[in-house]
Amino acid sequence: MAAVSAFYFVFLFFCLSSLMTVFVCVGLPFKAKGSPVILIPGDGGTHMLGKLDRPKVKHYYCRQRTSDYFNIWLNLEELVPYIIDCWSDNIKLTYNNKTRRTTNQIGVDVKIPHFGNTSSVEWLDPSKVSYGSYFAPLVDKLITLGYERGITVRGAPYDFRKAPNEGEVFFKNLTNLIEETYKKNDNKRVVLVTHSMGGPYALYLLNHKSQEWKDKYIKSLTSLGGPWTGAVKIVRVFTSGDNLGTFVVNALELRPAQRTYPSSAWLYPNDKFWDSKQVVVETPTRNYTLGDHKQLFKDLGIPYAYDMWLDTKDLIGSLTAPGVPVFCLHGSEVPTGEKFIYDDSHIFPDDQPIILTGDGDGTVNMKSLKACLLWKDQQKHPVLEKGFPGNEHVHMLQNNTVIDYIIKNVLMTPDNL
Ligand SMILES: *[C@@H]1O[C@H](CO)[C@@H](O)[C@H](O)[C@H]1NC(C)=O
Ligand SMILES: *[C@@H]1O[C@H](CO)[C@@H](O)[C@H](O)[C@H]1NC(C)=O
Ligand SMILES: *[C@@H]1O[C@H](CO)[C@@H](O)[C@H](O)[C@H]1NC(C)=O
Ligand SMILES: *[C@@H]1O[C@H](CO)[C@@H](O)[C@H](O)[C@H]1NC(C)=O
Ligand SMILES: *[C@@H]1O[C@H](CO)[C@@H](O)[C@H](O)[C@H]1NC(C)=O
Repeated sequence: MAAVSAFYFVFLFFCLSSLMTVFVCVGLPFKAKGSPVILIPGDGGTHMLGKLDRPKVKHYYCRQRTSDYFNIWLNLEELVPYIIDCWSDNIKLTYNNKTRRTTNQIGVDVKIPHFGNTSSVEWLDPSKVSYGSYFAPLVDKLITLGYERGITVRGAPYDFRKAPNEGEVFFKNLTNLIEETYKKNDNKRVVLVTHSMGGPYALYLLNHKSQEWKDKYIKSLTSLGGPWTGAVKIVRVFTSGDNLGTFVVNALELRPAQRTYPSSAWLYPNDKFWDSKQVVVETPTRNYTLGDHKQLFKDLGIPYAYDMWLDTKDLIGSLTAPGVPVFCLHGSEVPTGEKFIYDDSHIFPDDQPIILTGDGDGTVNMKSLKACLLWKDQQKHPVLEKGFPGNEHVHMLQNNTVIDYIIKNVLMTPDNL
């Protein structure tokens, strides 16, 4: 902050000492618009390109080879019956319990395009159908205020299938992006605006940076719907799959892929904050508590999920404060899964269960959304937590009250607070 005020004073001095540049000084308050922004998306919140050259395919109707990269995520044409099964097979990961890392299926090459620009995080479906709108409403509003894509508003998309323990290159890229954005914008500190899992990803970054670096480059962490201690919904992702809410797809078709993602294991309710005795799955023959996940994964035939859980559980395990000002924003008063019941007409695990709900944003439980409050006592920087009643996890990105709040209270405030 000192560097920024120093810069400002030098500029002011330069202005006052030169009559010829008076118009520049008058223009200064207008030129100095809001803080630069870097958008960090959540699970599923970015484009992903794939190229295929597979030795064998799951069904005769699945494409075996493509001449170039195509949109493997999200492409609504791929999420239709039959074809979705090919898609699910292409987008799976394979876990190696020796290297403790994941790889793509053999013959599948995946890349995340447009790092540094917003193109990958504005619309999930590149064809821009309305239910694929993601950060687009916020970015559009910022453009009307003079922001520029790729310069003052930028995106940091990543392979959301993986957890931060496999994100070495991404975090290096993100560090460079933050420093470059700061420099390109007259040394104005950067606001990280995250959605969902992007919050824990940003926390991981900040937990690995010096206080000096954070004070220099980061104005605030502004998280939307951060699952700070995980979400009970993840348990259902493992048992019966999840249709990603807004999209019309069969959850069971997504399940084989979702079960292989370390990010799914990472978002399992954190054992340091949740009661291990809490029953989350009821079946006619046995009930599973949160602490029974090893057995649950075994019974589901996915024992490797327990290894992925071991690898990821401590990445932000005890929720160390980020050491920057925090705006912890989230939806509330939307029924959110707390317990999943399978009975004789909802067969475990292939039918969708009866869902008992509590407070949250429809995806993340309230307790997890509010866990950022812990940091109030852990850091000197302010921590503001705010619920927006009636806002669902993804739809909050399209709510004007939320967007206006971010612009007025986060982006348009002075940088040197
Ligand atoms: C490691 O993975 C292999 C292949 O999936 C499996 O056969 C083996 O039992 C696993 N080892 C351990 C220690 O989990
Ligand atoms: C960012 O992407 C937009 C299109 O989405 C393009 O118009 C713009 O030139 C890009 N900016 C940079 C700096 O690459
Ligand atoms: C890192 O940045 C480079 C250069 O922008 C980009 O090509 C690459 O895809 C990025 N990788 C990750 C994992 O972010
Ligand atoms: C599971 O829990 C429910 C509710 O507490 C209970 O009624 C039921 O008997 C339990 N089922 C088993 C198999 O233990
Ligand atoms: C936007 O959020 C506000 C605050 O939670 C809520 O009152 C309002 O109904 C929401 N608007 C829409 C269109 O959902």
